[in-house]
Amino acid sequence: MAEPVPASTQEDLFEAVIAAEQRIEPRDWMPDAYRATLIRQIAQHAHSEIIGMQPEGNWLTRAPSLRRKAILLAKAQDEAGHGLYLYAAAETLGVDRAELTEKLISGRQKYSSIFNYPTLTFADVGVIGWLVDGAAICNQVPLCRCSYGPYARAMVRICKEESFHQRQGYELLMTLMRGTEAQRRMVQDAVDRWWWPSLMMFGPSDADSPNTARSMAWRIKRHTNDELRQRFVDMTVPQAEHLGVTLPDPELRWNEERGGWDFGEPDWSELTRVIRGQGPCNAQRVERRRAAHEDGAWVREAAVAYAAKRSAEQHTEEENGK
Ligand code: ACO
Repeated sequence: MAEPVPASTQEDLFEAVIAAEQRIEPRDWMPDAYRATLIRQIAQHAHSEIIGMQPEGNWLTRAPSLRRKAILLAKAQDEAGHGLYLYAAAETLGVDRAELTEKLISGRQKYSSIFNYPTLTFADVGVIGWLVDGAAICNQVPLCRCSYGPYARAMVRICKEESFHQRQGYELLMTLMRGTEAQRRMVQDAVDRWWWPSLMMFGPSDADSPNTARSMAWRIKRHTNDELRQRFVDMTVPQAEHLGVTLPDPELRWNEERGGWDFGEPDWSELTRVIRGQGPCNAQRVERRRAAHEDGAWVREAAVAYAAKRSAEQHTEEENGK
């Protein structure tokens, strides 16, 4: 029998893999805190994808054309798929998806603040695609290089689909901006409501982010919250100009020296309130998730019964084949 590897050697090996930009895989040794950090982040991310279907789902039955409805349906289905890849990635760390869902609906695990805002008009669908999915791309493309293999691989496909989501949102907004004065006002109103919450998606400022330093050292996160927020603003300002909308920030101005856009401070007290469950739609989002979970109990029971039946049949076939 092989000699057990001493903990110090295992830790050295883990650190060496991280330093060499290689991947940690599910069966590799990893520090408990690394595992816990990944479970926390991947679970929150998975929950966000699933809860994130609700704001836009609100418009599925009222999309203005068959084309828009088909696009929106495809997008919502993609988000469900993202949730599934991410729950599967979390399960490789030894947690059970049912347990994670239970923690979400009992308020013991978080999901992104952004999905606690209402979608008041169809322009919100376009602005979610443009700003929210645009922010998601900024945040998530670097996660394709995360040190944990299953998370990094899940992110590659998710990011490809997020690009389609962003483009469909921008195309919808361009169409509205070419429409009537009322449609242009509708777009501007949606931009005014979603701009600051989109900036808050990146998390608290670096000075108030307790997890960033360790997650960066472990190469789970590749950039700080503020770095990604800046990248998002720099990417979005020219797109807003092209679209013909005004971003609701009087402090927004080009900084020649830095080669980037200066922008105002988000209202961090609002982010704290929303994370604590006091946003405009938190209660409704979680309640709807709980109801969907309870309504789906029969599907899970049927799947378990079917799996048991298949396994018994295979067992009998093997017995008979002997
Ligand atoms: N909404 C809700 N909670 C947030 C948010 C937010 N926008 N930003 C930060 N938090 C929470 C963190 O989860 C953390 O809470 P916890 O320690 O209890 O878990 C706390 O606030 C402090 O924040 P940080 O120390 O900055 O946390 P972290 O290093 O995990 O960074 C971030 C937060 C940037 C969201 C990171 O977890 C991440 O990149 N996650 C993956 C991407 C993701 O989940 N995106 C969600 C949107 S998905 C979509 O758009 C379809």
